[in-house]
Amino acid sequence: MGNAGTAAVAPRGSGVAGAPRVDAQPVAATYWKGRDLLELRGCGAGPLRAMLRAAAELPSPDECAPEPWRSRLAGRTVATLFFEDSTRTKTSFSIAARRLGADVADLTAGASSVNKGETLVDTALNVAAMGVAAIVVRARQSGAAELVARAVSCPVINAGDGRHEHPTQGLLDILTIAEAHGRVPGFDLSGLRVAIVGDVVSSRVARSGIAGLTTLGADVVCVGPPGLVHGGLRTLGCEIEHSLDAVIGAVDAVIVLRIQFERHGDAAAKGDGGKPEQGKSTAIASIREYRELYGMTTERAERMRPQAVLMHPGPMNRGLEIDGPAADGARSVILKQVANGVRVRMAALGLLTA
Ligand code: CP
Repeated sequence: MGNAGTAAVAPRGSGVAGAPRVDAQPVAATYWKGRDLLELRGCGAGPLRAMLRAAAELPSPDECAPEPWRSRLAGRTVATLFFEDSTRTKTSFSIAARRLGADVADLTAGASSVNKGETLVDTALNVAAMGVAAIVVRARQSGAAELVARAVSCPVINAGDGRHEHPTQGLLDILTIAEAHGRVPGFDLSGLRVAIVGDVVSSRVARSGIAGLTTLGADVVCVGPPGLVHGGLRTLGCEIEHSLDAVIGAVDAVIVLRIQFERHGDAAAKGDGGKPEQGKSTAIASIREYRELYGMTTERAERMRPQAVLMHPGPMNRGLEIDGPAADGARSVILKQVANGVRVRMAALGLLTA
């Protein structure tokens, strides 16, 4: 699909490079029909709002989905190709597909012929040949979902590719913030300021969040030590700040990120077996110092604005980037994010395959 900025919203087979950006004008949910969802960068406000409104109209996952959603994918199959570990994304895509009436074909790295040398694209082509309605892809390599999308004719959803993007996580984070601050169904986030704290440089969640939030009018400030939040990230459209204490009382939502030691890849991050070691990275001076300066402690959570919400995409490392009482406290919407993940993924699967 070539151009990263337009791939997210380009019609299949359009060549995409010159696809027009769609901005704030109302966009019908049918806009998404037959498209891929690869990234939020370059996705206009209109398409974003159409997707978010569809998700917001869906009930929480513990309630029965209404028609026509409940049978939207009846008799069809959604394939999930997960070549990297996942708890939330994989499970919620499976639940979302089933709530739309679909069958689900789950493929994981450990149980696929990728282990015998088959490429990701060949794997996807074979799965697509079985007549699936959509393919959901997670992979370690940035751009992997786009490679699959170029090869197959069914819609492809990026469920996280390397450090690139995780668009459905970005959408569920936006839905959660918009609900907390009364911005549904308009999804105009102007006047809201969101802090993304921690390992931004490694984070596909941050990239999708920055793209989607700023497109809808929010200001985003990324907070962390220079090794994890460097000035070059300003090109994404966010502010940069190295003091969490300077911003904690001046934002409407805080998204805390896990330190992704496994993506740092430097010598200090490797243990004896050459594998990433939790707590080791040259990007931070020490865990103790990181916690002191950037840890989401109960005390810091108490200094947030009264209506501000505390978020984390998971998986959480309690006691490292976030303290247990803060994660479980009154302003935490972390499990709300997870529940909204099912609604967003139902909307994405339903609209792309309509
Ligand atoms: N937020 C997220 O992507 O979590 P998983 O890695 O468990 O899917």
